Amino acid sequence: MSTLQSLLGIELPIIQAPMAGVQGSALALAVSNAGGLGSLPCAMLSLDAMRNELAKIKSHTTRPYNVNFFCHVPPTPSAERETVWRAALARYYQEFGLDMAAIPAGPGRTPFSSEFADALSEFRPTVVSFHFGLPSTELVARVRSWGSKIFCSATTVDEARWLETHGVDAIIAQGLEAGGHRGIFLSQDLTTQVGTFALVPQIVRAVKLPVIAAGGIADAKGVAAAMALGAAGVQIGTAYLLCPEAATSAVHRAALKSENARHTALTNVFTGRPSRIIVNRLVKELGPISAAAPAFPLATSAIAPLRAKAESQGSGDFSPLWSGQNASGCREIPAADLTRELAAGL
Ligand SMILES: Cc1cc2nc3c(=O)[nH]c(=O)nc-3n(C[C@H](O)[C@H](O)[C@H](O)COP(=O)(O)O)c2cc1C
Repeated sequence: MSTLQSLLGIELPIIQAPMAGVQGSALALAVSNAGGLGSLPCAMLSLDAMRNELAKIKSHTTRPYNVNFFCHVPPTPSAERETVWRAALARYYQEFGLDMAAIPAGPGRTPFSSEFADALSEFRPTVVSFHFGLPSTELVARVRSWGSKIFCSATTVDEARWLETHGVDAIIAQGLEAGGHRGIFLSQDLTTQVGTFALVPQIVRAVKLPVIAAGGIADAKGVAAAMALGAAGVQIGTAYLLCPEAATSAVHRAALKSENARHTALTNVFTGRPSRIIVNRLVKELGPISAAAPAFPLATSAIAPLRAKAESQGSGDFSPLWSGQNASGCREIPAADLTRELAAGL
């Protein structure tokens, strides 16, 4: 039994990665009930939506689960940057016959706050995990006060050491292969980012805490390899995206099943922050990294109408097709079966 299993009281050292925008309680429940640790991502949920999802989890399992939040500092909107961004997108609005004056605010992403903490305190999840660093010391202390373990992503050895001195219970070592947003928080310099195989053993040596490997792990052999490198567990996202319990859209599912899934890039064009996505038209034409994109998460608003229109025509050209570098583990099977298969080599 790994330190992670004894720390959390779970059967399998498999954490289903929280994936905002593509899953809710159904996936989390399936994985927790199969003996792993299911996760509920809250970055794109309102307080009421989070409460509803947590109530569903509570009524369908007594097993441990994880609730996940982003910890970015919301930016001050800049009219100047928004104008530059809209100018970059104008030709697509024209192509689709869309009106820029009708761009709705949001959908943004909300960081952890005292309001979320109030709502979360009724549920006391076994784990609360954070991405983009930690919230304030007071909020961390509040989460700890009701007994939740605190996990956070680190993308470098420096971030792992910082998290250890700031009192987390385990570190999620997010390698460069990982799908979704980079959890990078001490620097904005993407040249600091390294692959899972290089990152995990270096963090294991640098800290005393349990280390969870994330990024590019897609099958039982990958899980066993991460554990051989000293990981106490793994956090897997991309491989769960085709499970029926995930809310992955039709265009996203089609992209994951296609040859295109072999070509991913870190891009900021969908949200303003670098995230790993299957390369599509928008990434090719404006990215992968665009100086015109407003600060996270403000880039999203002007993309949303383009995405909706393209998706209504069956196209993923303007959708954030999140994926890690290894989509070969994506299977259209129940998440419980996938979880057990991932743990089969242990
Ligand atoms: C679609 C998608 C959405 C993600 N959203 C989040 C999130 O909301 N919070 C978070 O902490 N990590 C998020 N991640 C990153 C995962 O926690 C994890 O680092 C990653 O999935 C591991 O790499 P893999 O996708 O290769 O398995 C997301 C990943 C994906 C693929």
